[in-house]
Amino acid sequence: MLINLRDICAIAEQAQIAIAAFNVPSLEAARAAIDAAEKTGLPVILQHAEVHENIVPLDVMGPAMIALAARSEAQICVHLDHCEHLSYMRRALEMGFTGAMYDGSMLPYEENVANSARAAAMCAPFDCGLECELGSMGSREGDVVEGEQTAPQQAAVYTDPAQAAQFVADTGLDILACSFGTVHGLYKGEPHLSFEVLEQVRAHAGVPLVMHGGSGVSDADYQKAIAAGIRKINYYTYGAKFAGEAAAELVRQAGSERVVYWHDLTRVAYERLLVDAEKVITTFAGRADGSEPTCSVS
Ligand code: 13P
Repeated sequence: MLINLRDICAIAEQAQIAIAAFNVPSLEAARAAIDAAEKTGLPVILQHAEVHENIVPLDVMGPAMIALAARSEAQICVHLDHCEHLSYMRRALEMGFTGAMYDGSMLPYEENVANSARAAAMCAPFDCGLECELGSMGSREGDVVEGEQTAPQQAAVYTDPAQAAQFVADTGLDILACSFGTVHGLYKGEPHLSFEVLEQVRAHAGVPLVMHGGSGVSDADYQKAIAAGIRKINYYTYGAKFAGEAAAELVRQAGSERVVYWHDLTRVAYERLLVDAEKVITTFAGRADGSEPTCSVS
């Protein structure tokens, strides 16, 4: 069933867990996230990022995400990720998205506030929950961040806790994406996260917080971030990498003797994504047995 971003975050708040928010730029990724939610009995967020328009257009993937979510027994929010253009957000709202992120983090503060407040006014008549970002992570999905990760990341700006309180009050957002040391894309070393920044932002802002760049983080850091107030964790790159590796392995095994059909690749990718999604969802809910890390940095 489709549920609102506000409601799914309220569930997370009450249970003191984080909800996994998967970017799903393919049918296999959407099915894996939904099937994992059904198997674990936990809610999930399906995301379409504006930057993935070149992989699959919103017009194609959006209605599919909504239809799959609506017929599922799991609680699912269909969310627009990192939207930088309000006209693009309007299209998602008219389609029936139940959550949306306006990302003005690269803009001057005043412009970010003004556009985020416009996004809030746009979302209200659609009863769509709104996420906005303050502070900047300095990278986007699919980026490779070279070198050892240090704090603060190059080009990243940590969220200012006092400014976060004002930002929430001036925009009317529901949940806040903040920058505290994670990055989008592949990590080339251990991430160094500032839980102090996170705790202060949470104390000042008083709203559920979102971790972006969620894949590639250690299980211990997930738990610390959740304890500090993270209620939604965006997860993409490492799951996509694992699925890509599974498909590549199939091609390697076939060698030059056996034909590899496209459906063979989509099937192994789906199976790998499903295993990963189950692990991620249960880890963020504090239910994993801890015998294996959610994913390893390489
Ligand atoms: P990763 O791709 O680094 O997991 O980040 C996903 C994300 O933050 C999407 O908004």
